[in-house]
Amino acid sequence: MVDAISTWLHVLAITLWIGPQVFLVAAVAPAVRTIEDTGVRARVLRVLTARFGWLGWSAMAVIIATGIANLFVVAGDLPGQSAGDLLSSDFRFTRVFREKMFLVSVAVVLTAVHTFSIGPRLLRLMEDASADEEARRRARRISIVTSSIALLASIGALYLGAVLSNHDYSLAD
Ligand code: HEM
Repeated sequence: MVDAISTWLHVLAITLWIGPQVFLVAAVAPAVRTIEDTGVRARVLRVLTARFGWLGWSAMAVIIATGIANLFVVAGDLPGQSAGDLLSSDFRFTRVFREKMFLVSVAVVLTAVHTFSIGPRLLRLMEDASADEEARRRARRISIVTSSIALLASIGALYLGAVLSNHDYSLAD
């Protein structure tokens, strides 16, 4: 029962990490594009992305903490195995876990670059009335590509998480 808490929190935090990203692409971005005044659009985006950043990064901290807790829970169900053994064993779990960590790293690195560099630069260009329209378009394209790859990597990690939790498959030699 207590073991279920880390999985519950893991999945809850995943919904808070992935859900708003999908909502941003599907609903917020098209709505914000209808604001014609570039300055107002930039101000709206600034509030949205600041809140979005806090939510996303808090969720990622919980995902990592509960992911580590999940490793101990899985190892606890396997006689003679520690969490460390699970990361270097012959189980499929080990391979799938490494692939999942690769995707998580891609998602985290690209989201960090987007949060701390690409996004703020795009907002500055939107706020600067004298900025070149081509520079704005290029920054927007880079922003879309980076955040799309990050989202796809997170969705891939979601799939590999589901594979990991299928123990008949993942814990077979
Ligand atoms: C974008 C990031 C992540 C996503 C989308 C994700 C997704 C998932 C999902 C869907 C599950 C299955 C939950 C269930 O049993 O129903 C899961 C389980 C798990 N995750 Fe993650 N996860 C992420 C990050 C992490 C991280 C950073 C770690 C480790 C540090 C981790 C370790 C684990 C472990 C050990 C399990 C348990 C597998 C089992 O029950 O055998 N995850 N994850």
